[in-house]
Amino acid sequence: MDNSLKKNCIVLHDSCTTVLVRERIVPPIDLAFLDPPFNQDKGYKAWDDNLPPAEYWAWMREVCAKVYALTSDGGAIYFMQREKNAEFVLQCLRDTGWTFQNLIIWKKKTSAVPGLKRFGKHYQVIAFATKGKTPRVFHRLRIDPPLPVGYKHARENGMFVTDVWDDIRELTSGYFAGDEALRDAAGSRLHKQQAPIQLLLRIILSSTNPGDVVLDPFAGSGTTLVVAEQLERHAIGIELDSHNVALIQNRLVEQRKSDDVSRFFKDYACTPDLETIWGKTALTRQSKSAELSVSKQTALFESKQ
Ligand SMILES: C[S@@+](CC[C@H](N)C(=O)[O-])C[C@H]1O[C@@H](n2cnc3c(N)ncnc32)[C@H](O)[C@@H]1O
Repeated sequence: MDNSLKKNCIVLHDSCTTVLVRERIVPPIDLAFLDPPFNQDKGYKAWDDNLPPAEYWAWMREVCAKVYALTSDGGAIYFMQREKNAEFVLQCLRDTGWTFQNLIIWKKKTSAVPGLKRFGKHYQVIAFATKGKTPRVFHRLRIDPPLPVGYKHARENGMFVTDVWDDIRELTSGYFAGDEALRDAAGSRLHKQQAPIQLLLRIILSSTNPGDVVLDPFAGSGTTLVVAEQLERHAIGIELDSHNVALIQNRLVEQRKSDDVSRFFKDYACTPDLETIWGKTALTRQSKSAELSVSKQTALFESKQ
């Protein structure tokens, strides 16, 4: 299929290990977000979620190596995993040529998973690495979260985002998943691992400029594409499960209010040059579409069925 990026977003229905070759992915990748299946024996139809650990990590190494080969100099990868797998993630990135930058702790705003014989688990890790020592793009975003209890003096101009992200809520199964979680008519979640758009917003704003190319080899419900498209970055999503491919296509066309990233613009208002990082035309378009309440727009994707 033609994937020469004539349009902003492309969804490829295939296995990422097959697709991640130069013949299929034409433009150099500037940022990749990896949120693979966690090999937790969940009984999925489309793939085996209970691989022997050695086989699973060999697969992850293959994906990281293929993404590396397709990435521009200084391009970035963010690899999300369970905290207990941090050592394997770091090794996997190192073995495939990536240069480590940060191990981000995503401390979810939801309750911890309790442990009987160990501390309750309250975070996931996201390893941030680059091709070469120096990131091609790294925007030092500033945020202004509520002051911790006991702090007396208000900040004058927010604070830089650190490697602990504790201001982004995970979309859990129940009530707190809110409007953003995709659901069927009966209210059940359509993709249980749907990442919050705030997470991808932070990653894409930090490591790309408008016009850059973002890749998600495990696209799931399409969060990466939905965010990248609004910020006028190009996006390539690869997804194995045909139901998820359809989900992504619908989500891109529908442009739901709950997927609108412009409502988080104010969270980064202390960031110098925010309009340029966000994309000036993206901002104009977002404010126009908010005015007109446009809900259906031209599809910006192609799919291989
Ligand atoms: C953890 S989910 C990703 C969720 C995604 N970040 C989101 O926001 O919706 C992992 C996804 O990888 C897909 N997947 C599994 N094996 C794959 C493969 N070999 N190639 C591409 N996608 C695959 C699954 O169908 C699943 O949707």
